[in-house]
Amino acid sequence: MIKNRILSGVQPTGNLHLGNYLGAIKNFVALQQKFECYFMLADLHAITIFQDPQQLKNNVIETAAAFLACGIDPKKNIIFCQSAVPGHSELAWIFNCVARIGWLNRMTQFKEKAGSNKEKASVGLYSYPILMAADILLYKATHVPVGEDQKQHLELCRDIAIKFNNDFNCKDFFQLPEPVIVKEVARIMSLKDGKKKMSKSDDSEYSRINLTDTEDQIIQKIKKAKTDNDLIPSKVEDLNGRDEARNLIGILAILKNQTLEAALKDFSGKNFSEFKNILSDYLIKEIVPIGKKIKEFKKDPNNIKKILKDGAEKANIVSNQTLKDVHNILGLAL
Ligand code: TYM
Repeated sequence: MIKNRILSGVQPTGNLHLGNYLGAIKNFVALQQKFECYFMLADLHAITIFQDPQQLKNNVIETAAAFLACGIDPKKNIIFCQSAVPGHSELAWIFNCVARIGWLNRMTQFKEKAGSNKEKASVGLYSYPILMAADILLYKATHVPVGEDQKQHLELCRDIAIKFNNDFNCKDFFQLPEPVIVKEVARIMSLKDGKKKMSKSDDSEYSRINLTDTEDQIIQKIKKAKTDNDLIPSKVEDLNGRDEARNLIGILAILKNQTLEAALKDFSGKNFSEFKNILSDYLIKEIVPIGKKIKEFKKDPNNIKKILKDGAEKANIVSNQTLKDVHNILGLAL
């Protein structure tokens, strides 16, 4: 039995933002000490929505550079591109035959992403969580660090593992992976609307802090971030119904490594202008050095390509073994 193996992925679809960083990548960096880690650029997931091919290539380099800049060590961890390991697509097909349509119909992210025009969405966008299950189970990952938006997909992954093990009478062949979701950072919200999560696809640049933002951009975005006219309260309960305030205070608390209660104590009774200056300072301290490192790593794309190639070689070894076993279990390719 594998005890301590992580797999997680990030779609290479443009600038990473504070939500990706606090919700996932910062956690990857912390977990790399204790786990055997597979960190993946989910380019096959990215193409469920049309991607310009040249832009996709650039985004792969950009996202890998961000992994490195945030502190993921390529010597300790396996960093690779999903499309460089064909086993992901193959296992996804097999899981397409295990998962039930009713399970996919419950996925809220598909409903959000496809919007009102479901008939025109790609089939890939619909079966996206099946590919995610394949990503995780191909490596028999025990833990999957993600933001809360991915929780339902992980539940589906567990359902697929259970059904596969039952259908083919191979108890424990796929272990059930545990989600690793850090409550305080599970859902970083848009700076413009505290009910929407911070996202790459939001039209407004002012809704998010990108990892490549300059000091000035951070100051401007925080200055314009939506708040309300009330003073900062002293109790967490008093943030109920004040989504934007809760989000900003929550972000500062995380950056200061404090509880929400402690962060409120420092500012209770004050208005948001002083608070926003301090929040900007903390964001600048955390984010601007990462942005500078991203720029540095991007200067040497060959180094990044080499890291991804080495990672894919190692990932393919594990993937091939799992697929060989799956073929045996299913009676395929004798
Ligand atoms: P993606 O690329 O949308 O996001 C990457 C990671 O960032 C987290 N995240 C957030 N966390 C907190 N607040 C936010 N506003 C926020 N926005 C994004 C996401 O939860 C995610 O952890 N399907 C995945 C990629 C993937 C994957 C996998 C993940 C593909 N295969 C296998 C885990 C295991 C995705 O689209 O992430």
